[in-house]
Amino acid sequence: MRLAVNIDHVATVRQARLAREPEPVTAAVLAELAGADGITVHLRGDRRHMQDRDLRLLRDVVSTRLNVEMAATDEMMAIARALKPDQVTLVPEEPGEVTTTGGLDVAANATAVKRAVLQLHDAGIAASLFVDADADQVELAAATGATAIEINTGPYAGAPTTRRGEELAKVQQAARQAGAAGLEVLGGHGLTYVNVRPIAALSEIAELNIGHSIISRAVLVGLERAVREMVALVG
Ligand code: PXP
Repeated sequence: MRLAVNIDHVATVRQARLAREPEPVTAAVLAELAGADGITVHLRGDRRHMQDRDLRLLRDVVSTRLNVEMAATDEMMAIARALKPDQVTLVPEEPGEVTTTGGLDVAANATAVKRAVLQLHDAGIAASLFVDADADQVELAAATGATAIEINTGPYAGAPTTRRGEELAKVQQAARQAGAAGLEVLGGHGLTYVNVRPIAALSEIAELNIGHSIISRAVLVGLERAVREMVALVG
């Protein structure tokens, strides 16, 4: 199972102060040194965390695979074609949402999604669609010609423990269906150190995208060292 690390929240901390640090490019290098198979960033319409400049620098520096999550808009497709990340994951984007709240409704957005997939493929960029673990969505996703899907593991992650097995089975079923349709199968959203193992054990999934939990843990496991270093300077 490959791990792609989503470093959006490094930029979230920087943007909270409109400061220069922490630098997402440094975070990407450290994640790669630690063994990450890829780096994922989400360029949101409101630029709340990642900035266009971050993507340009990451494109130069990332030596594994750069996956950029974005909405299937003309603005974002123009950015993708100029940037040429290894992969673009098309995600729904609702104004005001705190994070991506669900998978793409491929049926309702079929024209925009198909056009975006074509534009990405013409530019030599793999196209992945973030979809819920739902048979209709998986079938429609395959029909768009996308290279891959990322199954939304959010409902699994958010389910009470009594319903987790049911949600896990839905993810596995969707992954099987997608694999049989010739899609590469990825997964992500809401995965943590506590809930990742059953998902990581699914042989039908090739890669997981994990962000919030890794950055949260980095803050806590790194805090003691950071304070010690400042105590030494102050003292
Ligand atoms: N996959 C997609 C499509 C996402 O939008 C996100 C969050 O940006 C993730 C995966 C990672 O989710 P989390 O931050 O909960 O690990």
